Amino acid sequence: MEKVSKVEVMNYLDKEIAGAIPQFLKPIDEIWQPADLLPQSRNEEFFDQIKELQQKAGNLPYHLLAVLIGDTITEEVLPTYESWLSLVQPANEDREGGWNQWIRAWTAEENRHGDVLNKYLYLSGRVNMREMEISTQHLLADGFDIGTARDPYRSFIYTSFQELATNLSHRRVAQFAKQAGDDVLAKICGNVASDEARHANAYKSFASKIFEIDPSEMLLAFEDMMRKKILMPAHFLREKGLAKGVSFRHFSEAAQQIGVYTATDYINILQSLIKEWEIETRRFLSDAGERARDFIMALPGRLTRLTERMNPPKSCYQFSWIHPAK
Ligand SMILES: [Fe+2]
Ligand SMILES: [Fe+2]
Repeated sequence: MEKVSKVEVMNYLDKEIAGAIPQFLKPIDEIWQPADLLPQSRNEEFFDQIKELQQKAGNLPYHLLAVLIGDTITEEVLPTYESWLSLVQPANEDREGGWNQWIRAWTAEENRHGDVLNKYLYLSGRVNMREMEISTQHLLADGFDIGTARDPYRSFIYTSFQELATNLSHRRVAQFAKQAGDDVLAKICGNVASDEARHANAYKSFASKIFEIDPSEMLLAFEDMMRKKILMPAHFLREKGLAKGVSFRHFSEAAQQIGVYTATDYINILQSLIKEWEIETRRFLSDAGERARDFIMALPGRLTRLTERMNPPKSCYQFSWIHPAK
């Protein structure tokens, strides 16, 4: 089979990606905005609405609030993700090329997530905003190291996985918020989750195109990312005075403990991608591609056996982000 370069593949994909913008992203003038979901300060009922919002937020369990804060910080670190995507090579350097248009339009959708969640947390009365803001600034300054380098194949594997993971975690927070009686937060997280689902579909479709054109190399990228493990974009999360990544460990323990995002979810996402990209039936591969396919196919079983041996974490960590109960 004739060997194609990643530059050629990405150039071919550029038009497809331009076409994906209206398919997977919503028109700006029609999509929800944070103002649709939160009390507006000009309204006469504003202060009553805030009181009600705070009463409902007061019933959110501690770990759910901690996970929500971690999710919010993750969303607020959008400049890191945008600058990383714009370095993905070999992208079309034309500012009006499909890839660059996509990055801007995706960023525009994502920007609303940190915005709406931050405003909600500010109004909730439960969050030490200064401590949270320090964590956000640290995370921006620390960046991330997710192992994709500037490779588009690895980057599309990563974004496909990551958008599925954020969809799931926001969806679960929405569910738990609803159970706790906070319909405002449930609606916010539900809206964010549905954006993430569209983004996941987009990145999965870009990756599918690459699997059609260059399956062996794409399998190698998939294998490499799974060997490194998919790191969450906030893996350097910290609080004031703590080392890089310390708060991320507490955050992910809390998420695992309450069932917002667990080791089993990681395996389920992997399995859904294996199915989506028809990994099992990929044939006519290079020798390395065959080995990568076999590695990936065996991975969910191996991870499941490992997970069965793990003890579920029990977190009693107190985050500086959350005010102690009055
Ligand atoms: Fe997001
Ligand atoms: Fe997203």
